[in-house]
This record gives sequence, structure tokens and C-alpha cells, in this order.
Amino acid sequence: MVTINENYLKLPGSYLFSTIGRKVKEYGEAHPEADIIRLGIGDVTKPIAPSIIKALHGAVDEMGQEDTFRGYAPDLGYEFLRDVIAQKDYKERGCDIQADEIFVSDGAKSDCGNIQEIFGLDNKIAVCDPVYPVYVDSNVMAGRTGEYDADLQRFKGVVYMPCLEENGFMPEIPTEVPDLIYLCFPNNPTGAVMKKTDLQRWVDYAREHKSVILYDSAYEAYIAEADVPHSIYECEGAQECAIEFRSFSKTAGFTGLRLGYTVVPKALKVGDVSLHSLWARRHGTKFNGAPYIVQRAGEAVYSAEGRAQIKEQIAYYMGNAKIILEGLQAAGFSVSGGVNAPYIWLKTPNTMTSWEFFDMLLEKANVVGTPGSGFGPHGEHYFRLTAFGSRENTIRAMERFKSL
Ligand code: MLT
Repeated sequence: MVTINENYLKLPGSYLFSTIGRKVKEYGEAHPEADIIRLGIGDVTKPIAPSIIKALHGAVDEMGQEDTFRGYAPDLGYEFLRDVIAQKDYKERGCDIQADEIFVSDGAKSDCGNIQEIFGLDNKIAVCDPVYPVYVDSNVMAGRTGEYDADLQRFKGVVYMPCLEENGFMPEIPTEVPDLIYLCFPNNPTGAVMKKTDLQRWVDYAREHKSVILYDSAYEAYIAEADVPHSIYECEGAQECAIEFRSFSKTAGFTGLRLGYTVVPKALKVGDVSLHSLWARRHGTKFNGAPYIVQRAGEAVYSAEGRAQIKEQIAYYMGNAKIILEGLQAAGFSVSGGVNAPYIWLKTPNTMTSWEFFDMLLEKANVVGTPGSGFGPHGEHYFRLTAFGSRENTIRAMERFKSL
């Protein structure tokens, strides 16, 4: 008889953003007149920049010609894209990352979820709390955690690193040494950033304890301040202890196109086994490459025109972030984030739970956000808003907040 992967049964409820989507759909069906403003999931709203669209069209035309048609993409990514990533995202920032250490994929979410496959099930993971749910859920599915403790709202066997107002939403080095450490900066959901000296401390810690850092820098393009690292490889020795995930989704509006990449340096080894070889084996077996046309679009992101156009888009979203930050402050909320990240993290008023606030906001203001408790128990009494809406909706949402 067929059996199932029982680890899936440990997961309470559905994926956070699916739950929110369902609740909003139900509300919309019950109140068809409601003018709902969505500032929940971090999904972009601006169209793809013109120079990138031009590259897409060009690549589509190539696919229709005998001599330029492409079949399967190389599973690690086309060289034209890996070369430009190595140059622009790393070498120009002083990071010695080579094109063949870059694995192009269909997005950082897949890679963040899949990376755990190359590690043993006996590894202990450490995550920030609150945290992007994919890191924890993918490890639960694999069987790397114990059962869910509904009272504590935590999985047994996971090291949770509370990120609270008191510690500036920064994780502290845990007392129990983890094997795999997930870090995401600029942070989703709090919008906090880690300074280079602090990140260096984590790198030193990982090297000393032979841990591996899984560093999600999907939001690096939103960094505005000078002393905030864009890549973990800006830190000394990170190539020996860290894997980095990057995304085109938030950088260039590719949430619907799907493109990302993962860096696994060749110097990163567990014993004498290269993690680069393991990830190449995994990628080659389970993935057939991101589409050619999308990789050409990715290449266009790095052209002078593409860079200028996406810079404008990011400035637009960060203009929204400022409106949200100032609007919430004026309405008396305690807020953080939104300066180097497209997320604004606010404290719910009157000790309301995150979901109570979600329901109240949806019903009274027809505004959708993300309940902080969906990211972990220390997200309780917090709420996340995204800057990815349109300017008009962002302004309207803030007006509605004022009259709550
Ligand atoms: C979020 O809202 O946290 C993100 O958009 C989700 C994702 O990138 O998968």
C-alpha cells in the first residue's frame, strides 16, 4: 500500500500567502462592492521595464527562426547571463565570485526551498523568528524537524532566533550551535538590515563552528544606506561557509517571469565534499534550465538602459515605502523597516493579535496586509505592509489607516 510523506502532516494549516489569498477572496465574494487594496504578498505591480521587454521580444523572435532557435537551456544557466551576473553583482562589488559558481534558476523561492536537499537530515537548522516561512516548511517536509508544538507555535528541533524591537530585529548568536543558519537581509518580513561588521561576526561564527549560512539577499537592490552589504561575499571568508540566493523578482519585476540564481562557491566544502558539486548534481537532475527568453530578459537587466529603468522602479516603490512609514507614524503606529527594504513592519494597536488586526483592517478599511504571526511566534502583535502597490493605492490605503 502506498504511504505518504508523513512529515507533511506536521505542517499546520496552508502556506501563509495561500491562506491570506483565500480569506481575501471569500471577503471579496461576500462584499462585491468592496474596493480592496492589496498590500499583503510582496508582489510587484509595475510593468517590466521597456528595455527588458525589448530583449524578451528579440528572444521570442529568435525562437521562431531555424538558425537561432534554442531547445533545452543549459541546466546551470546560459553563460551570457552567468558572466554578466559574476561581473556586475560580484566583481564590481569586490567579491571574487566566478561565473561557474552561479546557478541560474526559476527563482529564489525554489532554491531556498530546495537547497536543504543536499544536507543530511541530522543537521540542526537555525532561523530568525519571524521568518520567511519557506525555510522552515521545506525542512519540515524533508523531516529535519520534530513535531509542531501548537502552544509554542514552533517546530521541535529547530533553533529559533527571536528578532524583536529590543534587539533591533537582529538575530543574536544562538547558545546551541546550529549546522545550517538561514539569514535574510534586507529582511523579509521586518525590513531590518544587517551592517557589514555584524554579518562578518556571523561568517566568523560559521567558520569557527563549521556551520553553513544560507543567505537570502533577494531584496539587496533596495538597500539605500552605505554600510549595508549587498552580498555576504563582501565579508572575509564567506566563500568557505555561505551559499547566497538572489532573485530578479523584486529587483526587476520578474515575479511572473521567474528568474533567480544561487551562488555556491567552489571553496565551500563539508569535509572534503564540495557543495558546489552536490548542488550541480541536484540541479542537473531535477531542473531543465530557466527559459532562454527569460534569461535574455535577465541579461537586459544589467544593460545601462535596463539598470537605469529598474533603478527608477525601485525608487518608485521606495517612495511608496516612505509614504507608508510616514503615514503610519502620523496615524500613531510604531513602525520599522521601509528604508532599505520594501517591507514596513508595524506594531498592532491595543495588543490586538496579528490576525485580529488583519480582519479589522480588511473589514473596516478594505486593506490587505500580512499578519506578523504568520512568520513565526515573535511576529505576533506585528503586521507587514508592502511597498509594491501602486502609488495611488498606497496613498489611499494610508488615508484609510488614518480613519481607522
Ligand atoms: C512575500 O510576500 O513574502 C514574498 O513575496 C513571497 C515570496 O517571495 O515568495
